[in-house]
Amino acid sequence: MKNTVLAPSVLAADFANLQRDIDMLNASEADWIHVDIMDGIFVPNISFGIPVCQAIHKHARKPLDVHLMIKNPDDYLEAFRNAGADRLTVHYETVTHLHSTVNRIKELGCKAGVALNPHTPVHVLEDIIQELDLVLIMSVNPGFGGQKFIEHTFTKINKLQQLLKATQSDVWVEIDGGVTDTNAAALTKAGANALVAGSFVFSSEDPLLTISRLKKLTAIKSEN
Ligand code: DX5
Ligand code: ZN
Repeated sequence: MKNTVLAPSVLAADFANLQRDIDMLNASEADWIHVDIMDGIFVPNISFGIPVCQAIHKHARKPLDVHLMIKNPDDYLEAFRNAGADRLTVHYETVTHLHSTVNRIKELGCKAGVALNPHTPVHVLEDIIQELDLVLIMSVNPGFGGQKFIEHTFTKINKLQQLLKATQSDVWVEIDGGVTDTNAAALTKAGANALVAGSFVFSSEDPLLTISRLKKLTAIKSEN
């Protein structure tokens, strides 16, 4: 069983003080640094791209968990690997030949993740789950930080756990969107073992303390 990791999202950081915020994450109990890439096409917002990812990597002393919310992610996998990605997660909804994409990510030396939008059922991963390192369940519609957590996410974690058992697979179960101190423990208990938190961390008065509190809430073991 994996200990739950916490991956603060720099989408909610102060972009004019990015190095300061990355240094804060370096000094914190955060495990990974979540990097949200949005193209304004797959999602209705643009965040930042390869050079900014590279700049984050230059200062980060923790693995970069890169979440690609972009069309045609295959065209950019190598560029993001070169920009420092340790984990590369593509959206199921954006890829035609998912098996090839996942293998390409691994060939590049990265861990491979697949993200599911709130409306995409878990069972679509039935025939690829054994190849994956991570499944990211979106608990908001991708595109913006600070949205309300979708409660149905718990049912999806449950279904994913059933699939993992049935196929004897072992992946990171990552939840992204609306994670706060009110749901972090319950998510861990349900079987999530990687939590992304953006605005809850960066909008708090003391992000270091908030990260530490979230880590404590997720220190309970998952029942799965
Ligand atoms: C949403 C992004 C999330 C987002 C989470 O499209 O994938 O990673 O930054 O932000 P919060 O924690 O504010 O919901
Ligand atoms: Zn994300």
